[in-house]
Amino acid sequence: MSEIETMPQNASKRVFIKTYGCQMNVYDSDRMADALAPHGYMPTQEIGEADLVLLNTCHIREKASEKVFSELGRLKELQGEKRAAGGDMMIGVAGCVAQAEGEEIARRAPVVDLVFGPQAYHRLPDMLARAQSQRHMHPALKKAVIDTDFPEEDKFAHLPAARKEATIARGLTAFLTVQEGCDKFCSFCVVPYTRGAEVSRPVSQVLDEARRLVDAGVKEITLLGQNVNAYHGTDSAGRDIGLGELCYLLAEIPGLERLRYTTSHPRDMDDGLIAAHRDLPLLMPYLHLPVQSGSDRILKAMNRKHTAAEYLSLIERIKAARPDMALSGDFIVGFPGEADQDFEDTLTIIRETGYASAYSFKYSTRPGTPGANLGDQVPEEIKTERLYRLQELVNQQTTAFHASMVGKTLPVLVERVGRMPGQVGGRSPYLQAVHLEGATDLIGAIHQVEIIGTSTNSLVGRLVRSAAA
Ligand code: 5AD
Ligand code: SF4
Repeated sequence: MSEIETMPQNASKRVFIKTYGCQMNVYDSDRMADALAPHGYMPTQEIGEADLVLLNTCHIREKASEKVFSELGRLKELQGEKRAAGGDMMIGVAGCVAQAEGEEIARRAPVVDLVFGPQAYHRLPDMLARAQSQRHMHPALKKAVIDTDFPEEDKFAHLPAARKEATIARGLTAFLTVQEGCDKFCSFCVVPYTRGAEVSRPVSQVLDEARRLVDAGVKEITLLGQNVNAYHGTDSAGRDIGLGELCYLLAEIPGLERLRYTTSHPRDMDDGLIAAHRDLPLLMPYLHLPVQSGSDRILKAMNRKHTAAEYLSLIERIKAARPDMALSGDFIVGFPGEADQDFEDTLTIIRETGYASAYSFKYSTRPGTPGANLGDQVPEEIKTERLYRLQELVNQQTTAFHASMVGKTLPVLVERVGRMPGQVGGRSPYLQAVHLEGATDLIGAIHQVEIIGTSTNSLVGRLVRSAAA
């Protein structure tokens, strides 16, 4: 595409995108903005000035779809106010709720103009044009444009490259989707149904996008995928490349200083990826490796395909390769049939692993998943109590992990001005927020910072040596 073609034809319109859920949705929202820019839509943070509002929804837990319907109720009022003032606003629902409940959304909320799933983002400009032509119809005849197909064509190949100017505005760190969908079918999870089968992007596409990001000033890339370490892209010679090998290739890009990836499944943590952690200093020592439960019985019912002991021995192998590896995880409490002893086993695996951070959730039934057909539901108050106990343990571990940094000198990628005047902020290799006194010209590079204290969720540092020194 030439420069001219990518210029907005009419840059007077504004799109407001509200993103729910995971980092993949954050990435997808940016790509939607990129796809709309050549059609005259510039992103806005002000919903009141939007000509188009897109809700990029999440379906993973709880009553996510109900949240979407109540948001749509508010948007209907806003649309009414705009129309009364002589303006207008189109409304679209994207993401996993759209994928799971497409027709239902259009039926229950006629205010919606378009509904489209994660596989359809590259067709957004076309859908928008169709929806616009519907707006002049009588309300009784007007129909939302719905696109929730899983197409044969490759979504990634059709997405526009991130615009250079947009990438700069998005900062020093960037997400890069390398894999989408999941074939694991954990019995509690909707992802295999909403995001579809596992698909990996070809190696050359990933490397091209990474180079473009680095050219635009990005220093740290986080590779994204629902099950990112199941990545198996094809290179130009037709070879199958795993995530570990992909990391070695990315490490050769001059100017790329840090690499992360998320989210991984223990079963896909292969020797190649563990070796990459041993060999590549740019691959950051922070790994999100969810185990969900410490009970073999529950792990089996969850269809996680490994035992607690296998997880622990995997952690040992990872730490042998990269001794300072910080671990993060996800836990579900109250999976159907979870007895007191199963929950105690979960606390035990947390103690034995030692987490730098962890996310934990009460089990919630997702329609259409095998878990939805299980009896023996755990009462809500027991889930609440277990979640509380689990989070207390994890919080202790997080606090101890932060405290163990005091006195160490860490490389910190300084990314932004700090909360207080005269401060800047960034991230340690272990993904901890670090604040330090310093001038704004520190922003944009990795500096050596001595950790002198901790606060609730961050570290306090002192500049030891700037990158320029
Ligand atoms: N109930 C509770 N938590 C869930 N997760 C996924 N599905 C459910 C569910 N039905 C959690 C898992 C997963 C994280 C992204 O969300 O812990 O790793
Ligand atoms: Fe869901 Fe399991 Fe796939 Fe993760 S690995 S996306 S929890 S099915």
